[in-house]
Amino acid sequence: MRSAVELRHAHRLLNHGPTVLVSTAHGGRQNVMAAAWVMPIDFEPPKFAAVIAADTLTRELLLASGECVLQAPTTLQVDATYAVGTHSGRDGDKFARFGLVAEAASLVQAPLVAGCACWLECRRLAEPNAEGAYDLFVLECIAAWADDTLFARGDWQFAANGPRTIHHGKGGGFFATGERVQAARG
Ligand SMILES: Cc1cc2nc3c(=O)[nH]c(=O)nc-3n(C[C@H](O)[C@H](O)[C@H](O)COP(=O)(O)O)c2cc1C
Repeated sequence: MRSAVELRHAHRLLNHGPTVLVSTAHGGRQNVMAAAWVMPIDFEPPKFAAVIAADTLTRELLLASGECVLQAPTTLQVDATYAVGTHSGRDGDKFARFGLVAEAASLVQAPLVAGCACWLECRRLAEPNAEGAYDLFVLECIAAWADDTLFARGDWQFAANGPRTIHHGKGGGFFATGERVQAARG
């Protein structure tokens, strides 16, 4: 079940560096792309940095709407993740084509992609210099959600044989998030 995550814990949803899906919507169009270059950059209010290339439909819709959703797909969504990262929404609706289901978000027009492990509803904090020079967008998370079978008590709880978040290597080769290795308390 999708449960709200406290905003002060939102950074923990992406702290382990998973590949995400970036969904956007504007003017009756919606879209989704894969993004591996996304990371937390502040605790509260939670902020994230994302590289969104200049030629993507995602960037066009993000700039037009000022909003997006970052969400982490699981090992059950590897094919769809790679597909939305290798085709542009300019060539047709990727939700229908690749079997992804869009659900309503709470505060933004961009949809939530069903079946993901977590969702971060974000608004763009305009940084035209970074966007222009490095394709780097600063996003403030204004609502956060997680599948409570995977993220509970403020932390990921991946089961031995259950779905996990994924990390891209190259050419559609992904790594599943691995085992927890706990440091001794300092
Ligand atoms: C695993 C994976 C990770 C990717 N990471 C990024 C990324 O961090 N930033 C980016 O701009 N493009 C990234 N891409 C490429 C975009 O997903 C791709 O250009 C996509 O077709 C853009 O779709 P759109 O035009 O519908 O927005 C990635 C692709 C894959 C397969």
